[in-house]
Amino acid sequence: MRIMRAAYASRFDADNPLAALTVGDRPEPAHLDDDWVTVQVRASSLNHHDLWSLRGVGLADGQLPMILGCDAAGTDPDGNEVVIYPVLPTPGDPRGVSILSEHYQGTLAERVAVPRMNLLPLPTGLSATDAACLPTAWRMLTTRGRIADGEAVLVQGAGGGVATAAVALGLALGKRVYATSRDAAKRDRIAALGATALEPGARLPERVDVVIETVGAATFDHSLKSAAPMARIVVAGATSGHLPPVNLRRVFAMQLEILGTSMGTPDELTELLAFCAEHEVRPVVDSVVPFSRVADAFARLHSGEVFGKVVVDHTA
Ligand SMILES: NC(=O)c1ccc[n+]([C@@H]2O[C@H](COP(=O)([O-])OP(=O)(O)OC[C@H]3O[C@@H](n4cnc5c(N)ncnc54)[C@H](OP(=O)(O)O)[C@@H]3O)[C@@H](O)[C@H]2O)c1
Repeated sequence: MRIMRAAYASRFDADNPLAALTVGDRPEPAHLDDDWVTVQVRASSLNHHDLWSLRGVGLADGQLPMILGCDAAGTDPDGNEVVIYPVLPTPGDPRGVSILSEHYQGTLAERVAVPRMNLLPLPTGLSATDAACLPTAWRMLTTRGRIADGEAVLVQGAGGGVATAAVALGLALGKRVYATSRDAAKRDRIAALGATALEPGARLPERVDVVIETVGAATFDHSLKSAAPMARIVVAGATSGHLPPVNLRRVFAMQLEILGTSMGTPDELTELLAFCAEHEVRPVVDSVVPFSRVADAFARLHSGEVFGKVVVDHTA
């Protein structure tokens, strides 16, 4: 059995997730069948999901130790540069699927094992670190949000990884993009990307057709108030709390759709990679941290100061 370096949840700590992180040696993950391959990870990116896992949300004691990380790019056994599609069929999970680091060991390691069908070619012009950051926002805007010509979008909590990606993609799609952030410096950076930056709760110059909601309780009422008739409020997360009061009168009077979204399809990832290569869209990267300092990357994400994705460089 080959041993490799990995960042993994060794226990849970609801109050201090960083204390539950261990960086050390783990066995290389096994192949479930002959269709699985091992990928040498070159870059991965952190998600808030990794902090939830360390807190014990979505993982049970019996699943420990669990290598964290969902998004990654790397090299397959034939030497091809690949992007990993992180969703795997998972019998026994009520969703029928799971994301790497839930039932199967994740990407924050020297190597990760996945079914060969989960590998997509890395498009020319996209770096491994860029490709490791892309997925959720695309599905929120397109498949779920059905954003159309001439429509406007509001992105809540603009500093987050999903939110910065939604701003960049919304602008590249030619939409009017509004984004809120509590932090003046982050608002300046959002404005520099080309979006209209606002304080949380501020009145927008127009009602929007799509809302990208990952903050949850702290922003949800504003999302409802900012929505145009027939708007789609797409919810991918609830960093500030998952039980906001919901004004149902507004939901039915304005005929709003509140749509949950989780993960994405391989076709969406392929589409997104092609879109980014063609339109030269790149994710907003907060920082690139060498794997030797992966714990610092977690601390950075946990600080709440990030603007964009925290990327881990596995070659450094
Ligand atoms: N469903 C999926 O497929 C999927 C995929 C990826 C992520 N997620 C979920 O989506 C959420 C966002 O993840 P992320 O990694 O992009 O970003 P994140 O680090 O969770 O932060 C999102 C933003 O939320 C805002 N925020 C946090 N706490 C707040 C509070 N108390 N009041 C107001 N605003 C607050 C901050 O915005 P400002 O500082 O700019 O105000 C922050 O930048 C997470 O809950 C994650 O689990 C889901």
